[in-house]
Amino acid sequence: MKEDTSKIYSLPESVKLYRFAEVSESSIGEDSIVGDFSRVRNSTLGVHTRIDRNNFLTNVIMGNYSYTGPFDMIFHCKIGKFVSISYGVTIGAPEHNYHLLSTHPFIYNKGYGLLDDSQLIRNDKFDKPLVIGNDVWIGCNATVLRGVSIGDGAVIGANSLVNKDVPPYAIVVGCPARIIKYRFEKEIIDKLLQMQWWNWDDKTIKEHPELFTSPINQDILTSYL
Ligand SMILES: CC(C)(COP(=O)(O)OP(=O)(O)OC[C@H]1O[C@@H](n2cnc3c(N)ncnc32)[C@H](O)[C@@H]1OP(=O)(O)O)[C@@H](O)C(=O)NCCC(=O)NCCS
Repeated sequence: MKEDTSKIYSLPESVKLYRFAEVSESSIGEDSIVGDFSRVRNSTLGVHTRIDRNNFLTNVIMGNYSYTGPFDMIFHCKIGKFVSISYGVTIGAPEHNYHLLSTHPFIYNKGYGLLDDSQLIRNDKFDKPLVIGNDVWIGCNATVLRGVSIGDGAVIGANSLVNKDVPPYAIVVGCPARIIKYRFEKEIIDKLLQMQWWNWDDKTIKEHPELFTSPINQDILTSYL
């Protein structure tokens, strides 16, 4: 099948689109990948981002070095840098209006032909915001509902349902997700939030490999602040 390139914005040459990947009205930073059968629409992806196979992304802003696993669905949200999203994850699924007689979309989607244009009502299925911070790890098959914020450094356990805000560096699990612990003690979390290493340029990260590969302690962090 011939690839439809008519809707593809000009992408950097270093971006690899795998088989049947479709990118429309989106910009993608250097050295990024969109996997087999994945669709990216109305989105802005940073440099070194990787969208695995069979993903659907629409209206997503994703920061540098963030990536997804296979079979992810991601709608209308902002995702930070260095975020790891495992496979089978759903983020920001649209909301149907359950206050009316029917939850079926024929009342706002003219494609069904049951209501005239003038009778259709507006339903913003994405009006609740959804923001995911930096260095977040989202385990496999997790679901993140609209209206929540996930703080920097948080971990979402496998199969969790996130329906409330998650504080920075918290580890949450279950359905609904609850905090079981934090990745580090409070003083270290405060320093990491101040440091915001994810905003460093590549050169600075490369100059400090020990920071990322050794156990964290306050003394090391203090020397970077
Ligand atoms: C969240 C997670 C990181 C926590 O790991 P951990 O620190 O080793 O946690 P523990 O095993 O000590 O578990 C602590 C408690 O939480 C429970 N728990 C851990 N993960 C859970 C999950 N995903 N759902 C429900 N409960 C979970 C444990 O059963 C344990 O409960 P208990 O104290 O009643 O016995 C890990 O369990 C997880 O879900 N990892 C995701 C793996 C994944 O999706 N990988 C995909 C590849 S990227």
